[in-house]
Amino acid sequence: MRIAVVGATGMVGEVMLKVLAERNFPVTELIPVASERSVGKEIEYKGKKYTVVGLQTAVDMKADIALFSAGGETSLEWAPKFAAAGTTVIDNSSAWRMDPTKKLIVPEINASELTKEDKIIANPNCSTIQMVLVLAPLHKKYNIKRVIVSTYQSITGTGVKAVQQLENEYAGVQGEMAYKYPIHRNAIPQCDSFEDNGYTKEEMKLVRETKKILSDNTIAVTATAVRVPIVGGHSEAVNVEFSNDFEVAEIQNILHHTDGVVVQDNNDTFTYPMPMYAQGKDDVFVGRIRRDESQPNTLNMWIVADNLRKGAATNTIQIAEYLIAAKLV
Ligand SMILES: NC(=O)c1ccc[n+]([C@@H]2O[C@H](COP(=O)([O-])OP(=O)(O)OC[C@H]3O[C@@H](n4cnc5c(N)ncnc54)[C@H](OP(=O)(O)O)[C@@H]3O)[C@@H](O)[C@H]2O)c1
Repeated sequence: MRIAVVGATGMVGEVMLKVLAERNFPVTELIPVASERSVGKEIEYKGKKYTVVGLQTAVDMKADIALFSAGGETSLEWAPKFAAAGTTVIDNSSAWRMDPTKKLIVPEINASELTKEDKIIANPNCSTIQMVLVLAPLHKKYNIKRVIVSTYQSITGTGVKAVQQLENEYAGVQGEMAYKYPIHRNAIPQCDSFEDNGYTKEEMKLVRETKKILSDNTIAVTATAVRVPIVGGHSEAVNVEFSNDFEVAEIQNILHHTDGVVVQDNNDTFTYPMPMYAQGKDDVFVGRIRRDESQPNTLNMWIVADNLRKGAATNTIQIAEYLIAAKLV
């Protein structure tokens, strides 16, 4: 496979290269792509150096698959150009996710929707992926009525600039700000910009993308997304109301048998997921599974994953692996 990585010099792009190498993805030619600022720079993949090229050069190289993580505007403009050249695009930005003509894929849940005609495939938002991976098998069994989610999101979700801001603040150095406020010793209840309804885009992604991935518009979702000075991954407190009653042990058992999910749930041994330990791992971790005693058929959980891994690079590469296995590219 000839693979273009668009945004190869960025936070997600770098993890993308790492995950491709780790999974021994069948790369016959790697095409690292970034902005004009980075053209000519060298990046390393499996011990070999590759020169970063610009977008038009990459289109002309007609890769089999292009993995995009270079922001929404780049995707809107360039994904169709790659697709027109015969390259299948898997896009990490929010550009195509809610486009009704594009599929929004978490491979464990809905990869079977993909066909050869899907030339631009959307990768969901990081905070959505980790939540729906846990919700999908529970929805099947108990039917979800409503989800209330509060997130504690890693600064790595904002890219290289945010990591630099935190490092500057640690070191007491004045520098460029990725956020409007200091993030060290802070919690910022704003991830991405605000929409007219008073919610942030990140919160509305959790609402809209969950319904699309689970193919069910009747699920009510409400979210509060908060940025915290954490590097390893996103954490989420998730409250789920089902139509049908459940046993907590049964929920644990279902999640224990869910691909990509690891249950870490034992109060006696203080076992629960934490971003420090999720960092660098491909799984989604779930714990603090307990009944919400304030109303019937309702559950509380704590879900943690590395947003750069399952929330971005790993999910994208799993989609690419599915396309190859199903002979769709
Ligand atoms: N971070 C996450 O957890 C996460 C999760 C899911 C999805 N995403 C999405 O992935 C994308 C990248 O995020 P990131 O965190 O990796 O950001 P980042 O660290 O800021 O990296 C951005 C990358 O995009 C490239 N780029 C920017 N403008 C470009 C242009 N006009 N043409 C070509 N390349 C351009 C940059 O190249 P230069 O180095 O040359 O500037 C860099 O390689 C975003 O769309 C984001 O929403 C991020």
